[in-house]
Amino acid sequence: VSTLYRSARVLTCEGAVATSASGGEGPLGVIRDGAVLVREGRIAWVGPFAQAPAGAGSTRDLGQSLLTPGLVDAHTHAAWVGSRHEEYVMKMRGADYREIAAKGGGIVSSHRALLASTVGEIHATLRARLRRMASLGVVTCEVKSGYGLTFELEERQLLAIAEAAKDPSLPCVVPTFLALHALPPDMKERRDEYVASVCEHAVPAVAEKKLARFVDAYVDQNAFTTDEARRLAAAAQARGLRIRLHVGQFADVGGAELGAELSAASCDHLENVSETGARALADKGVFCTLLPTASFTLKQAPPDVALLRRVGAKLVVASDANPGTAPSESLPLALALAVRLYGLSTEEALLGATRHAALSLSEPDRGALFVGAHADLVAWDLPHEDALMQPWGVPLARLVLREGRVLAGA
Ligand code: NIG
Ligand code: FE
Repeated sequence: VSTLYRSARVLTCEGAVATSASGGEGPLGVIRDGAVLVREGRIAWVGPFAQAPAGAGSTRDLGQSLLTPGLVDAHTHAAWVGSRHEEYVMKMRGADYREIAAKGGGIVSSHRALLASTVGEIHATLRARLRRMASLGVVTCEVKSGYGLTFELEERQLLAIAEAAKDPSLPCVVPTFLALHALPPDMKERRDEYVASVCEHAVPAVAEKKLARFVDAYVDQNAFTTDEARRLAAAAQARGLRIRLHVGQFADVGGAELGAELSAASCDHLENVSETGARALADKGVFCTLLPTASFTLKQAPPDVALLRRVGAKLVVASDANPGTAPSESLPLALALAVRLYGLSTEEALLGATRHAALSLSEPDRGALFVGAHADLVAWDLPHEDALMQPWGVPLARLVLREGRVLAGA
């Protein structure tokens, strides 16, 4: 069976492709009165409705809706449990994120919440969160571990993520082992030993059990050094895992240069990055992932977007969903903030949450509408992509499909 979805405005979001087979205009591939033919979970045809193949199957007319690829959230910590609202109150009274962390709050506080949770409980929390994300138009979601800190607990988080990844009624889940996030409380004085055990024990075990596709490290002041992250990356890459890095959220410690050296898939945050670092990322084709909800929560100045543009960086926008710095599951909110606070154009923001995000996750068949791609679609109750960039704060996705199946809406 096949269905032809018709809509007043279809965006293919193929980005800067040489020839857009569908004939869509501009980087967003705009097709007015367009249609997408879905057959067996894949896109069989896309183009102007008037040119749709005859006998294409039943037509579902979505009227004035805006039809886009399913959104792709390329940076989340969505497998967290518990709440850090006390910390938020402290922050609102002026406390600093790193100060709170030094006092045993922050990441370690989410680690404590995880200690008391089973795989089943983590999975239930994650599943509910992914359902809410789906209702906001998210069809692919990267999910990091990183609150376990010990191998046993990291594995518990990764097993919960793997459980969610098996479920076709949720967004497609891309698992990342956030291997160096914080030192466990009892390892504060033994960081070399900790890093060595992560590299020699945890990474091989995660690779062996296929619990992650990417390995991530938090490279920053008061976090991990470039040397430590380099050791981790060597262990990961030797086992076929690719690298994503948290870089320059608080200070520039050379994380971007390291990301380029490692040909990382993505370097994320980038509030503090040098011109050399930015250029190195662009030259190596490393995606630059912006996380505006985090810098909004932390009251930080935006990254140097003009610099990123100047060097030709490929931009991604993600939610960073986490209980400490981005307590929001909403990628549309991150898009609105990217436009309002960072000055991204609608095109930059939307490509950053569709095609670029999918490519940064090594998901080439997602994040754009082209023949052969997965039929991941969102019909928005909005007339235009510019309208999507406003901070609605409510779900406006009317129909959300993953591989042709309804994830949300009707
Ligand atoms: O991306 N900065 C490091 N990691 C997260 C925050 C994690 C947390 O506070 O729980 C981030 O902002
Ligand atoms: Fe993060």
